[in-house]
Amino acid sequence: MGMLIIGFKIAEHCTAWSGGVVSLSLDPFRIEMSPPGLGLLFANEGVTANAPKADFLPPAYRNRVYNTSASIQSGDRWYREFPNYTGGNMSITSSNPGMGMPARPKITTSTIQEKKQRREFITCLTAYDYATARLVDEGGIDLILVGDSLAQVVLGYDSTLPVTMEEMLHHTRAVRRAVRSAMVIADMPFGTYQGDVKEGVANAVRFVKDGGAEAVKVEGGEKRADLVRRILDSEVPVMGHIGLTPQSLHKMGGYKVQGKDLSGIERLMKDAVALDRAGVFSIVLEGVPREVAAMITREVTAPTIGIGAGPECDGQVLVFHDIVNLSFAPPAKFVRQYGDAAALIRNAVAQFKADVESGGYPSDAESYHLPGSTKADLEAILRRKEMKMHAR
Ligand code: KIV
Repeated sequence: MGMLIIGFKIAEHCTAWSGGVVSLSLDPFRIEMSPPGLGLLFANEGVTANAPKADFLPPAYRNRVYNTSASIQSGDRWYREFPNYTGGNMSITSSNPGMGMPARPKITTSTIQEKKQRREFITCLTAYDYATARLVDEGGIDLILVGDSLAQVVLGYDSTLPVTMEEMLHHTRAVRRAVRSAMVIADMPFGTYQGDVKEGVANAVRFVKDGGAEAVKVEGGEKRADLVRRILDSEVPVMGHIGLTPQSLHKMGGYKVQGKDLSGIERLMKDAVALDRAGVFSIVLEGVPREVAAMITREVTAPTIGIGAGPECDGQVLVFHDIVNLSFAPPAKFVRQYGDAAALIRNAVAQFKADVESGGYPSDAESYHLPGSTKADLEAILRRKEMKMHAR
């Protein structure tokens, strides 16, 4: 009985041939394995006869695919809990065999809206590259924002203002390649949407078409309502962002908490309502008093995602580098550090340096070796050469 197992490790037990992948054991398909069975098999008819039905798959695939892993059960659960969930498949959706089935259901704008209705907190983290985006996605985070904070935490600029469309697209693509379930949102960089609405729409579409994003984020409230509508008309979901908007750094006169007086509160409320009416699928509230964030969260239909906006928001976002101590800056009041990647990396670098300088790296076990026969031939040649030298 022939069966094709998809999801395997390249470069495993590759002692002699590096195949171009020496140190990486890359598992690109990430099929969930659930012992003792294989997670997902393409199998012959006889096998599928006894197999559990993958009801959320399109009919054409149900007879060919079965899954003994928890992902079917969790798919069923999601199906029940989120009525709009299709399992990511419509009648003409490709099976995308290169990526396999997601380990958890795909997060969409509907999932986010349903979470607000169910009063379940929404999680969001930034990510800017393949490795971290993959870890964030595998960690079960709902939304991954390719934030323009890329400018500071990855590219070393001192504000978000200089980052370009091309730089943002480059990193959005890397994140896209890593993420299967979380929703990927690209942050529109400064200067790419504040002027001409047409240009803003074209740039938003580029993030979806060229970057693989599923939504874009724009900073600003009421004054962006028209742009938001126009981007939505182009079928691109939009996340709003009000309060402390880092792209308004110079206008704000620094990074300052917003909405601290009555007129500021009114401004924020107007902005939130205008974005909500324009149809954003969520609104980031950054650097606003928790009381104001709570009021806005109650007022608008769109889920609010807070950063420095207190616990009453519908969800929370933090910059990835902040939570793992990779930001090289004193953390803001709202940042909670969950790990110390800087210490981990410093330690690894110091140990590598010490090992190389002491001759302790690489060991024999970390070296390639000649096959026995070649080694014997080579030794014989070297012996003859030495004998000739002595004979002279
Ligand atoms: O760019 C970013 O990281 C952001 C979040 C802080 C919301 O906009």
